[in-house]
Amino acid sequence: MQPIGYVRSPYKVAQDIPKGLGAKHEAEGLLDVRPEFEAGLTDIEGFSHLFVIWAFDRSEGFNLLGTPPSDDRPHGVFATRSPRRPNPIGLTVVELMSREGAALRVRGIDMLDGTPILDIKPYLSSVPAGRLRRGWLAEAEARTGPKP
Ligand SMILES: C[S@@+](CC[C@H](N)C(=O)[O-])C[C@H]1O[C@@H](n2cnc3c(N)ncnc32)[C@H](O)[C@@H]1O
Repeated sequence: MQPIGYVRSPYKVAQDIPKGLGAKHEAEGLLDVRPEFEAGLTDIEGFSHLFVIWAFDRSEGFNLLGTPPSDDRPHGVFATRSPRRPNPIGLTVVELMSREGAALRVRGIDMLDGTPILDIKPYLSSVPAGRLRRGWLAEAEARTGPKP
């Protein structure tokens, strides 16, 4: 695998990125696609949201169990979005604001500046809201009360 581009983010250090229950990811940034892959963005403008698949390049090692910032109880790594995973791959849904050549301006990033992008795909959800279960996250939210 090779990066198809890099995230241009206002976040230079992990501490700047909102975390925990109720955290909102509204930061804007750029998905800067390498020029040799620009043709692959053809027709992407028609999609409101995108999946961005990326590498946790500043994460080392993994923990099969960990306590996420959104709870005070441990959960399995595959039941969380922890950066410390056996294959350090991140997945973020962003809103596509505009395209400037090989750069996509997006909202909703939670990646550090310079994060390598492995792939971009249109976001299409076919899961009805009523069939979604939010597991331990819903329980943690219920324990701590509603978030604004
Ligand atoms: C909880 S993870 C969730 C990422 C993604 N939405 C996912 O579900 O895979 C987000 C955290 O990853 C960390 N992070 C962001 N970019 C990173 C990078 N390039 N390398 C290592 N850690 C990173 C930051 O601490 C950030 O708050």
